[in-house]
Parts: sequence; C-alpha cells; structure tokens
Amino acid sequence: MAARRRRMSDEMLEIDLADPRTHTERDLTEYWQRLRRDFPVYWHPPVGVNPGFWVFSRYAEVMAVFRDNTNLTSERGNVLVTLLAGGDSAAGQMLPVTDGKRHKDLRNVMLKAFSPRALSRISESVRDNTRRLVAEAVRGGQCEFAEQVASYIPNATISSLLGVPDADRNALLSWSKSALSSDEADQSPEQAWLARNEILKYFTELVADKRRTPGEDVITTLTRTEVDGQPLSDVDIVFNCYSLILGGDETSRLAMIDLVLTLTRNPEQWRRLRAGEVELASATEEVLRWSTPAMNFGRTALRDTEIGGQLVRAGDIVTVWNTSANRDETVFAQPYEFALDRSPNKHVTFGYGPHFCLGAFLGRVEVREVLDALRCFSTGFEITGQPRPIHSNFMHGMSYLPVRFEPDEAGLAAV
Ligand code: HEM
Repeated sequence: MAARRRRMSDEMLEIDLADPRTHTERDLTEYWQRLRRDFPVYWHPPVGVNPGFWVFSRYAEVMAVFRDNTNLTSERGNVLVTLLAGGDSAAGQMLPVTDGKRHKDLRNVMLKAFSPRALSRISESVRDNTRRLVAEAVRGGQCEFAEQVASYIPNATISSLLGVPDADRNALLSWSKSALSSDEADQSPEQAWLARNEILKYFTELVADKRRTPGEDVITTLTRTEVDGQPLSDVDIVFNCYSLILGGDETSRLAMIDLVLTLTRNPEQWRRLRAGEVELASATEEVLRWSTPAMNFGRTALRDTEIGGQLVRAGDIVTVWNTSANRDETVFAQPYEFALDRSPNKHVTFGYGPHFCLGAFLGRVEVREVLDALRCFSTGFEITGQPRPIHSNFMHGMSYLPVRFEPDEAGLAAV
C-alpha cells in the first residue's frame, strides 16, 4: 500500500484514547475502521504524563494478546488507568492482575466458589429480582431505567454471591460506581481512590464477620480454602471480593441499559424478540457484542515479542480494544447491524484465554432475564429524554436513561 495512503491524518493522531472525553464527545466509528484497515498495530503517542502504548484493534491480534500470558503480563495492571500509572497495587493477589501458577491456583479456587450449585441458586434469584424490578417499572409507566432498574440487578447478584447483607448493598453500589468509571465528568481521581478504599475497608470487616459466622456464600468458601497448602489470607480474600464487585457490577449494568436504548433504535429487532422469532440465547450474545461495556484491556510485555507482525519491546504497554474487535468486518458479517439472531457470534466482550471472564455465565443470565422480562411485560417503550453517557476511558455506556413503557396487561397479570 502506498506510504501516502497509510499516513495517519493529524486529526487521528490527536485522538487521545486515554482521555475519557474522547469516548463521550466523539464518534470513533471511522477511527476504528481506519485503524483496523490501515494501522492494525498503532503506537499511541505519549500525552502529558501518560506514556505511549500499543493499540490493537483487529479481532485476530486482540485474541492473540488475550491468549498470551507468557510474554505478556497483567501484573502491571490490566486497565489503562493502572497501566499508565505504572502498576496495580493488588498485583499477585487479585485474580485479574495475577499471572503464572498463582493465577491458575487462585482461579481454580474461585471457579469452585462459582460452582453450578451456587450459580443455580443465584440465577433463580436474578430471575425473580429482575422480573419484579421490570414489572414494577412497566406498571409505573415510566422510569429512569439506569437508576431504578439496572443499578439493582448486578449489585443484588454479586451481593448474594458474596453474602453481602441487604442493608449494605446501596453503599456498595455507589462506591462501585465511583471506583472504576464515573457518572459525572467532574469526579476527581481522589474520589475514585476513596471509593476503592471504602470497598476494601468494607470487605475487610465482612471477611472477619464470615470467619465468625459462616454462611453459604463465596466469602465463606474462600475462608475455608487453601492454595498450595496455605489458607487464603484476609487480604487475598478482600482483594478478590473487590475484583468481583468491580468486574461484575458496572459491566452488566451498562449492558442492560444499552440493550433498552438499542432496542428502541431497532424496532424490527424488538418486534422479532416479542414475537418469539429469535432465541433469547442468541439475542443475549448480540446485546453483549453490541454493547461491549468494557472497551479495552491491557498488558505489559515481559520480553521482546512479536504481535501482528510488530516487534513489541519488553516493558511496552499493550492495549486491546474489544470495542473495535467486536465490529471487525473480517469476523462479523455486517458488524454495524444489530441482529438478535446473529450466528456465529464469537464476540470478545468477556475476553478470551487464561483471564476469560469468571462471571460470564452470570453476566449472560442477567442480560437474558432483562430481555425476557421486557418482552413479557411490555408491548413497547420509548426514550423520553437525553441519555447521559458515563465518563470513562475503560467502560462504555449510559448512566441515565429515562424510559416510558406500554404495559402488556396479560403478561403483567401473570406475575
Ligand atoms: C457483561 C458483563 C461482564 C463483562 C463485559 C465482563 C468482561 C470481562 C473481561 C473482558 C475480562 C477479561 C479481563 C482481562 O483479560 O484482563 C473479565 C474478567 C473477569 N471478570 Fe468479567 N465481565 C462481566 C461480568 C462479570 C461478572 C458478573 C463477574 C463476577 C461475578 C465478573 C468477574 C470477573 C473476574 C473475576 C475476572 C478475572 C478473571 C481472571 O483474571 O482469571 N465479570 N471480565
């Protein structure tokens, strides 16, 4: 390809992917199309105090990066904010930022805590809770979906999984919202830091409670488990509770808010969903591909390594953009169409490989139950005000979505 055609325009070079405003104020559709086509390996220049980093936008390289925990590590952070700051203080203790044998052992322990028995109980409670919340919202005629419905579903799910008492759940929800992204653009990094500290403090007390009074929950399981012949320390357990809250709360919440917005923009897909012309399972996967709540993840190269034909030097920061890989036209037919019966649909919304999302099953259950409740209880809905995006360079979605529902009286009569 001629060098002239492959030169990046000044406007593209000025796009700062680490700046949350880039993701709320700009439409990056053409940017990603151009990157995938002409610059699948792109060196994002340093901006201010932030170092430069590699950007991988194509599905193939995104998968290759996710797969490789030998040459690439998550132990210096796996999200932009920690990677750019030079590290993650929970490295080697919290599952997503641990690698090697310790990661394998810890993951096996956590997988036990996510046993089919534990998850079947939680899945039933997700279903009951979701149906109740959606039915209430539809009966009320209108609601702010983000706050009144979506906020409560993942929070209740993870809280039940961890055995968090009902009375503490709202506080946990608000800390979790500030810790990773922000509903408000003017939130300072100090507020996010304080929120993270509150979560850690809260779980330190809860772990002590569970040691005294065990329950049937993940924390109790973790207090009784050994890794390499050693019991897990309180700090290990606390960090991993934190990772479940942060990993499972906002992501699912954003996916379900996005599905309401997207269905109002795609009336034919809504009609097909209601008419039972598409399977809930495939609809769930398309909602997950379409929304891609976690836009990117990252790694650090441990040694010189080649990715997508590019030599990446030891110490370089590597980022993968799920948001782009899920629209890769070489993998998804008509990737910019929302098609609830899309098949195959091997999206990377939950990542891939050794760090593949531990909560993927639960995330899917939550999205599926919202879709099912909407189609059972409402004949249609519309957005009644301007949706408000969250402020983040990591997560993507809306924090505010006012909706008016038309009730399906027959469906509602059945609950
Ligand atoms: C729609 C919802 C969700 C999305 C989009 C999502 C996305 C992801 C992604 C992309 C990763 C891989 C991170 C990496 O490779 O560095 C991941 C890992 C993880 N997720 Fe999720 N997640 C969701 C729901 C959940 C839920 C409900 C939970 C917990 C109940 C959870 C817990 C975790 C944990 C613990 C990891 C780390 C696994 C490891 O490092 O071995 N996630 N998630």
